[in-house]
Amino acid sequence: MRLAQILFSQGFGTRRECESLVAIGAVGIDGRTLDDPAAAFDPHGLVLNVRGEAWPVHAKALVLLHKPADYECSQKPKHHPSVMNLLPPPLRRRGVQPIGRLDADTTGLLLLTDDGALIHRLTSPKKHVPKVYEIETTDPVSARQIEDLLRGVVLHDDPLPVRAAACERTGEHALRMTLLEGKYHQVKRMVAAAGNSVARLHRSRFGALELPPDLAPGAWRWLDGAHVVLGSTAQPQPH
Ligand code: URA
Repeated sequence: MRLAQILFSQGFGTRRECESLVAIGAVGIDGRTLDDPAAAFDPHGLVLNVRGEAWPVHAKALVLLHKPADYECSQKPKHHPSVMNLLPPPLRRRGVQPIGRLDADTTGLLLLTDDGALIHRLTSPKKHVPKVYEIETTDPVSARQIEDLLRGVVLHDDPLPVRAAACERTGEHALRMTLLEGKYHQVKRMVAAAGNSVARLHRSRFGALELPPDLAPGAWRWLDGAHVVLGSTAQPQPH
């Protein structure tokens, strides 16, 4: 594949802008500056250097973001900046979007991709991908509330009870809950239906992936493919 074409596929601008990037000496490989936009490379596993930054070439982008509070997952945010602002422009240009949403005040693990089929696969209710939430409550957590969340609570727009796949008390005002669905404000509504309310909400796990402890709020990482989310042991690789 031609170098300019690879840059274009990664979101570095129009074909002409990608050719110019090479022409001005902004692109390199293995410490060597490249000057021919038509030079051919195998994009598989290729790591470019663009304007001094390493850029591992991915046919489809999949990234893990530590979402901070006060960012919206919407592409057209109303009250806070979009999480997209935390990603570099090439990823935004590629049409990367969140896999499911977190509320503006929720922190933690958020996946984003430009792979529409993967979004469908990971958000489909039939797939039952587990999501783990760490919840701080306004009132003390009672054994009865844990029982209710495990047995199922009725949300006002849903006739069938919704259950937590797992739920445990982790402190006087704290609980950890695993959900297999992703309904609108599901955690907050379930905790309210159980007679308490959410003061802070943090997602610590999505499928097989745990939020890496060394990933600061607002920082992101490349992931190597859906298997790291769906598998059982894989962890994200630093880019
Ligand atoms: N449930 C909620 O209520 N909010 C979130 O952000 C995620 C799950």
